Amino acid sequence: MSTNEHDRPHNSALWMPKRRARFEVGPASYTAPGPHEIVVRARAVAVNLVDAMAGPAYRVVVPWLRYPAIIGSDVAGNVVEVGSSVTGFAPGDRVLGHAMALEKSQNRAAEGAYQQYVVLMEHMVSAIPESLPFEQASVVPLTLSTAATGMFQQDHLGLHLPTAAPDRQDAVVLVWGAATGVGMNATQLAKNAGYDVVATASPRTAEEVRSLGADAVIDRTATDAVEQLVRLIGDRTLAGTMAIGRGSLPPCIAVAERTTGTRRVASSQPDPASRIRGRLAARRGVHVSYIWGGTLKDNEVGPAVYRDFLPGALASGVFRAEPKARIVGDGLAALPDALAQVRSGGLSAEKIVVAL
Ligand SMILES: NC(=O)c1ccc[n+]([C@@H]2O[C@H](COP(=O)([O-])OP(=O)(O)OC[C@H]3O[C@@H](n4cnc5c(N)ncnc54)[C@H](OP(=O)(O)O)[C@@H]3O)[C@@H](O)[C@H]2O)c1
Repeated sequence: MSTNEHDRPHNSALWMPKRRARFEVGPASYTAPGPHEIVVRARAVAVNLVDAMAGPAYRVVVPWLRYPAIIGSDVAGNVVEVGSSVTGFAPGDRVLGHAMALEKSQNRAAEGAYQQYVVLMEHMVSAIPESLPFEQASVVPLTLSTAATGMFQQDHLGLHLPTAAPDRQDAVVLVWGAATGVGMNATQLAKNAGYDVVATASPRTAEEVRSLGADAVIDRTATDAVEQLVRLIGDRTLAGTMAIGRGSLPPCIAVAERTTGTRRVASSQPDPASRIRGRLAARRGVHVSYIWGGTLKDNEVGPAVYRDFLPGALASGVFRAEPKARIVGDGLAALPDALAQVRSGGLSAEKIVVAL
C-alpha cells in the first residue's frame, strides 16, 4: 500500500475523550508505521479487565495515559502497511498482535487496539494460520504477554523459553488460576518449554485445563489445596509458580515454602496487599515478583514468543488460542457494552470479543 497521504485509508476509533468520560466512536487519523512497526486493519478485538476498568482506576493503573485516548490491547486482522525495516510481514498477512497504547513508553492513541487501523510493534505480532478465525485469535495477546513475562523474564521466573522441540525439563511449574486467560497461556507455554505442569482451577474448568496439557489439576477452592499440591509435587523441583487471580498469592507462597526448588513466585496481581505479602514472604526465603504484562516488549522474551514460537505453534496445533471467544457484537459501537460485560464479571473460560 502506498503511504501517499491522499491514498491513506479513513480510520475510525473508539475514543476515550478524557478520564471518566463516556466512550465515543469517531474519526481518527491513519498513522503510517515507523521503521519497525506494522499497521493492521483490525478484524476482531478482545476485552481485558484492564480495558474495562472504571474511570477512576485508570488514575492508579495507567496514571500517565494521555487523553483523548484509544485503549485496547488485543487485536487480530490483516497487515496493510509495514515499516521500512520490517522483513517478516507483508500486506495481506493474517496476524494477531499486542497493542501497546497503554504502555508508559508508548502512550499514543495510534497504538490502541480499538480502532480500524492499529499501529503495532513488529516483534509483538504473530502470523496466524488460515484455520484460526480472527475472533478466536484476538483473545490471545495481553494474556499471552502476561504469562510469558512472568515465566520467562529473568526478573520473574526465568524459565527456559518455549520452542518447537523443547528439551524435557525434570521440573514442575505450578500455575495457580489456570482457567484464566493468563493461566491457559501459562500452562501451554510451560508445556512447550518442556516442564510438567501442576495447575489449579475450579472443578467446572478442570477438564479444559487438562486438555491444554496440565499434568494434574487441583481444585483451587478446596480448603486443602496447598496440602494436595505439596503432596503432588513431592520431592520434585518446583521451577517456578505463576500466581494468577485474586487470592492466589498466599497459597502459592505456602507451596513454594514447602517444596524444593527456586522458591520464585510471579504474581499477576501487583496490588498493595500483594506487595506486602511478598515482602513478608521474602523473610521466609520466597521471592515474589509482580508482573506488568507489557514489559516483554523491551527484552528478548517478546520476539522469542511472538516471532519465534507462536506462529509455528498455532499452525501445528501445539498451542491453542484460548479461552473461547464469545462474540458479542460487530463494529466499534458494540465495544462499550462489551466493556460493561467484562466489568460486571462472571465469565468462565470465555473472553468477550467484538468483530470489526
Ligand atoms: N499484571 C498484568 O499485567 C495482568 C495482565 C492481564 C491480567 N492480569 C490479571 O490476571 C488475572 C487473570 O486475568 P484473565 O483476563 O486471564 O482472567 P479471566 O480469563 O477473565 O479469568 C476467568 C477465569 O478465572 C477463574 N477464576 C475466577 N476467580 C479466580 C480466582 N480468585 N483465582 C484464580 N482463578 C479465578 C475462573 O475459572 P475457575 O473458577 O473455573 O477456576 C474463570 O474461568 C486477573 O486478576 C487480571 O487482573 C494481570
